Amino acid sequence: MAGEIYYSFGFGVLEMKVIETIPEFREVRAGCKGTVGFVPTMGYLHKGHIALVERARQENDCVAVSIFVNPTQFGPKEDFKTYPRDKERDLAMLEPFTDFVFMPSAEEMYPAGYDTWIDVGSITGILEGASRPGHFRGVATVVNKLFNIVQPHNAYFGQKDAQQLRVIQKMVRDLNMPVEVIACPTVREPDGLAMSSRNTYLTPEQRAAAPVLYQSLMMANEMWQTGERDAAAIKKAMIRLIQSQPLAQIDYISIADATTLQEMEACHSPVLVSLAVRFGTTRLIDNLLLE
Ligand code: PAJ
Repeated sequence: MAGEIYYSFGFGVLEMKVIETIPEFREVRAGCKGTVGFVPTMGYLHKGHIALVERARQENDCVAVSIFVNPTQFGPKEDFKTYPRDKERDLAMLEPFTDFVFMPSAEEMYPAGYDTWIDVGSITGILEGASRPGHFRGVATVVNKLFNIVQPHNAYFGQKDAQQLRVIQKMVRDLNMPVEVIACPTVREPDGLAMSSRNTYLTPEQRAAAPVLYQSLMMANEMWQTGERDAAAIKKAMIRLIQSQPLAQIDYISIADATTLQEMEACHSPVLVSLAVRFGTTRLIDNLLLE
């Protein structure tokens, strides 16, 4: 029983607890002393996730990680059912850094009759939101619910999902949520491909072609550093480079104000260059801040 265990946080990690229900989580949360750092995830963890967890460990007395493949942020034709899952491997990766893993079922989070949603507004209708209608409503809703359950002081999100990070920051600000949102840099494979649970879908040929996303961002950065400020010129060069890989199909390339995500014609710093590219049925995203 979770309630029988007393932890003394801040004096090293004791046994990691895996919790599946909200009442049980509330019980252990009530026993936490000091600050709580929280990393929400959908599992199938990689070094990008672990970097967030390690940062939470450094900066908090207690670390909670959630693993929940959130059905409400997937479109009807998206990969909810096939999203990769590996509970044992995930738990082994979290063990050195984590006090609590919250792994609820879909019924625990969305019981019959569930019907309350968080809509963050215009920032959710563009880019990823335009390609994936309803996606950010699902993300904002589940993150809000997780914040209410975990009640963290600090919550860690990756810059890899730049628009998601901004949606969460806006939700927290607009709704006066008592949480500090901490942005963490994108962790990459040695060849530049941003780590993602979805990389596992790529065929060897697609995987070999996928670093073109990062290469196109590096090229945009080089153009920016040498004084190019015409968004159309930067986009055109990126498109040409990506199209040199026949397996890559561009969904969008955006050069936008880094805060509002509104598209720019003449760039002024800080700028977010972001893109979504399909390899077969696998859709990869990446981005870079130009400052
Ligand atoms: P998931 O894709 O599992 O990502 C969990 C967190 O890890 C997010 O904050 C994401 O930005 C971060 N992350 C993923 N890949 C990263 C990388 N290569 N480098 C740095 N950080 C990385 O994002 C989600 O889950 C969900 O939408 C969630 C927020 C959990 C809500 O369901």
